[in-house]
Amino acid sequence: MSRHADGAPRPGRVLITQDELRARVGALGQTIARDYEKRSPIFVGVLQGAFLFMADLIRATPIDLTTDFIGLSSYGSGTASSGVVRLVSDLSLPIDGRDVVIVEDIVDTGHTLAYLKRSLEARRPKSLKVCVLLDKIERRETEVDVDYIGFTVPNVYVVGYGFDYGGLYRNLPHVAALERS
Ligand code: PRP
Repeated sequence: MSRHADGAPRPGRVLITQDELRARVGALGQTIARDYEKRSPIFVGVLQGAFLFMADLIRATPIDLTTDFIGLSSYGSGTASSGVVRLVSDLSLPIDGRDVVIVEDIVDTGHTLAYLKRSLEARRPKSLKVCVLLDKIERRETEVDVDYIGFTVPNVYVVGYGFDYGGLYRNLPHVAALERS
């Protein structure tokens, strides 16, 4: 059976183009490079959604840095956050005494980021900052500080550039709204 049943939601209106992503991620990289000049931060990408953003951000950040990934999941297969965060895979290296930059694709209710910040703070990094591509501020349920923000977006379900619906559409080069076909 096709995965694209009639009436199934599909990527629709483009919200952020490839050029807009490239420009904004480039600017974020320059800002972070200035802030971390002569330090050697570890960028922690949050799987799965942030892998494309992470790949572009580190190439836009011209300083010595290292990378690691952590796997978290808060959504099931649908479009609503469950509010329950699960650690799917942990970092490969300790972060105590390190400057850590969390690289996340989106902050929505804030539960995932709040959980992650608590978890990483407990490991005693030298510093901990957060860089998020999209901020869906109107959905926030828990207060969480974000240091670097790419774009503020309205309350629409987004796909593309790492964002999925049921595992699909992460490979789109832009960010689109999920719409009924
Ligand atoms: C998404 C997104 C964030 C989180 C944000 O992850 O990548 O990690 O939800 O939501 P919140 O602010 O409401 O907690 P998801 O569970 O969909 O996993 P994925 O990154 O693998 O797509």
